[in-house]
Amino acid sequence: MKKIHASITAVGSYLPEHVLSNDDLEKMVDTNNKWIITRTGIKERRILKKGIGVSFMAIKAAQSILKKNNINPLEIDMVIVATITPDMHATATAAYVASEIGANNAFGYDLNAACSGFLFGMSTASVYIESGRYRKILLIGADKMSSIVDYTDRNTCIIFGDGAGAVLLEPNLEGMGVQDEYLRTNGIGRNFLRIESGGSQMPTTVETAKNKKHFIYQDGQNVFKHAVSKMADASEEIMKRNSLTNFDINYLIAHQANKRIIDATASRMGIIDDKVLMNIERYGNTTAATIPLILSDYELKLKKEDKIIFAAFGAGFTWGAMYLKWGYNS
Ligand code: UT7
Repeated sequence: MKKIHASITAVGSYLPEHVLSNDDLEKMVDTNNKWIITRTGIKERRILKKGIGVSFMAIKAAQSILKKNNINPLEIDMVIVATITPDMHATATAAYVASEIGANNAFGYDLNAACSGFLFGMSTASVYIESGRYRKILLIGADKMSSIVDYTDRNTCIIFGDGAGAVLLEPNLEGMGVQDEYLRTNGIGRNFLRIESGGSQMPTTVETAKNKKHFIYQDGQNVFKHAVSKMADASEEIMKRNSLTNFDINYLIAHQANKRIIDATASRMGIIDDKVLMNIERYGNTTAATIPLILSDYELKLKKEDKIIFAAFGAGFTWGAMYLKWGYNS
């Protein structure tokens, strides 16, 4: 019997209309356009209106797939939403998204692995598909980072943006799809990148809110160092394990946190610029949404059998790399 691989068969996305530029940020905190571009590669990011949850973007991204590919939502078996900004605690955003898109035969849940959320979601979804039990899984990476960013903190507000990207995963018997993965975590990461209040360890109080503990905190330099070494290590490992040289790889699709981190990873892999797909300049760091947003932006460029490496690093710490063969021509 032929081995079942989990292959991406469709991609979709949603980005809010409102643009927050570096010029806008100059008026909000002590920063400047030149610094942001040189240190991060970001020119602008998108911001979703206040009072609207992340599900709004996740639903739009999922609907764009259903519409474009003429898929009946009742055929969807499962919906996974990778996010650190769910609509509410104690209720899965995925359940709401599934209902709103009419996926009434599906089950779903959220997956929290921060900036590695989409990558870890790919792993989860692909194992379900490879098992033969489920045939159509919607994996959505979505984050409304503006809901947890302190816009008086220049260490974080210049980096993050809002957005959602989605993929449909289906079985493939021709060998296309996910080939291998190398995923890791290290709990020391919570010291350097986290939201301290609102969880069971420090429930929200007037005091925690006054001290801004409900906003994202990042020790940028420390996270940067770990991100550079871990993302490059994981990518190198996956190349070695699959006997891939830099010439074999068609594209590197890395989490868009900082252009310098992506460049460092590509350089360690010996991958030239043309093969490194980026859109960080337009959207910033959208956490779980960065990789599917790249897929959506570059879908027309990707060809069947292209060898692609996904790489990510995020809070936790969580990180890893995945090797897949692209499944279709657009
Ligand atoms: O997505 C998940 C994981 N997240 C990441 O991967 C992000 C990793 N970290 C980073 O991308 C970078 O550390 C940042 C972009 C956050 C910061 O860049 P950096 O090159 O590490 O800057 P730094 O913190 O070392 O600061 C360098 C200088 C400092 O000034 P002095 O002490 O050298 O005079 C900062 O005070 O830049 C200053 N600075 C700023 N200046 C203008 C820090 N933030 C800003 C700013 N605008 N926004």
